[in-house]
Amino acid sequence: RTLQIDTEIKSGERGKMLPAQLPDDLTPEEQQELENIRRRKQELQEDIQRLKDEIAEVTSEIENLGSTEERKNMQRNKQVAMGRKKFNMDPKKGIQFLIENDLLKNTSDDIAQFLYKGEGLNKTAIGDYLGERDDFNIQVLHAFVELHEFTDLNLVQALRQFLWSFRLPGEAQKIDRMMEAFAQRYCQCNPGVFQSTDTCYILSFAIIMLNTSLHNPNVKDKPTVERFISMNRGINDGGDLPEDLLRNLYDSIKNEPFKIPEDDGNDLTHTFFNPDREGWLLKLGGRVKTWKRRWFILTDNCLYYFEYTTDKEPRGIIPLENLSIKEVEDKKPNCFELFIPDNKDQVIKACKTEADGRVVEGNHTFYRISAPTAEEKDEWMNSIKAAISRDPFYEMLAARKKKVSSMKRH
Ligand SMILES: *[C@@H]1O[C@H](CO)[C@@H](O)[C@H](O)[C@H]1NC(C)=O
Ligand SMILES: *[C@@H]1O[C@H](CO)[C@@H](O)[C@H](O)[C@H]1NC(C)=O
Ligand SMILES: *[C@@H]1O[C@H](CO)[C@@H](O)[C@H](O)[C@H]1NC(C)=O
Ligand SMILES: *[C@@H]1O[C@H](CO)[C@@H](O)[C@H](O)[C@H]1NC(C)=O
Ligand SMILES: *[C@@H]1O[C@H](CO)[C@@H](O)[C@H](O)[C@H]1NC(C)=O
Repeated sequence: RTLQIDTEIKSGERGKMLPAQLPDDLTPEEQQELENIRRRKQELQEDIQRLKDEIAEVTSEIENLGSTEERKNMQRNKQVAMGRKKFNMDPKKGIQFLIENDLLKNTSDDIAQFLYKGEGLNKTAIGDYLGERDDFNIQVLHAFVELHEFTDLNLVQALRQFLWSFRLPGEAQKIDRMMEAFAQRYCQCNPGVFQSTDTCYILSFAIIMLNTSLHNPNVKDKPTVERFISMNRGINDGGDLPEDLLRNLYDSIKNEPFKIPEDDGNDLTHTFFNPDREGWLLKLGGRVKTWKRRWFILTDNCLYYFEYTTDKEPRGIIPLENLSIKEVEDKKPNCFELFIPDNKDQVIKACKTEADGRVVEGNHTFYRISAPTAEEKDEWMNSIKAAISRDPFYEMLAARKKKVSSMKRH
């Protein structure tokens, strides 16, 4: 018997018809080759069947093209495309159009699904829709965030995914709602990583700000990983986050900045500047007019000063509320002054620790401070001004930070 082969199968250097029966004079190599050729033939036959099926399918599609069903589909696709265009111009109207034409169900889940897929949608428009204050939009926001899968992603990976799915709008309240939803979802997918949603929220912003500090060429002062770690001290409900976790996140951002859709050069940090900073400065005494070197930390709308960088308790705390700042001339270089505007003689509300450990009210009508360089003076003044200027976002963040820092872990 011979094999029925309708295609000549070329194999190796020879192409020939194959006998079914193995001639008994074949070497093992030749037997193997024959076996290979048979297998190949089997595969080719299967391929041919697949192609035939595909042709049948396409033929039937072509036949149906003229049918009413198909015309309806084309009409539908046209309307969806129109709905997307409308959405990009005015998100609410676009959604309304799609619902009224039965192209989208009026449920938060269906709308969220539509936005998450995002096909043909402008990410700025998605951000605007998700940021709306209305109860229904907030439901959609939550459904949208739930569609993101963050399990086993570190916070930077999750943020990359999240911030790429729409463009975060510029308003503080909107950003707050969206990032709160993000933090809840992250903690839900990764229980046990953070003590609370607040911790996740605060760290997320620390990371977004780090992104700008490290990658925006206008920021001269590039934080080191040590500074990043120290700036995030105490945010895990009063405790510290594991150092290697923070190091990992730092490295990830350092190696690759966040990408955001519609990047127009206005990164998020233009919306809320993070004024936090720390460093050595000279401070003029209140009663005794001597200059003392102190380690200053600006955070949570307060200026703290320490005798040593390692001290746990500050020597003094100056709340920046109601204060102004100006440059002043002094025998010391690079001086600036904190004062109460329109009230030169009033004592600034502040506290300090006496040598014997008692905490007493400060006795300063102004604080005069000298920075080591002109550049550092400018940086400190900018940061303090930003802290004083009551950026609504910064205030929200500072309030949350205060909350988690003051919590005691059990
Ligand atoms: C969709 O439902 C919400 C409340 O569930 C309602 O306020 C809104 O008007 C509805 N939209 C449309 C286009 O029907
Ligand atoms: C998306 O919309 C924004 C605001 O209307 C616009 O500036 C931007 O160019 C649009 N993006 C695209 C890709 O069309
Ligand atoms: C991260 O930094 C890059 C470079 O400055 C910037 O283009 C991007 O918008 C920033 N991302 C965020 C989320 O701020
Ligand atoms: C700031 O001013 C407001 C209004 O005058 C006052 O109620 C508040 O106590 C002041 N805060 C500080 C820290 O002086
Ligand atoms: C504050 O300083 C003034 C004079 O500089 C002094 O009269 C007053 O007793 C001081 N108050 C405190 C609480 O030290």
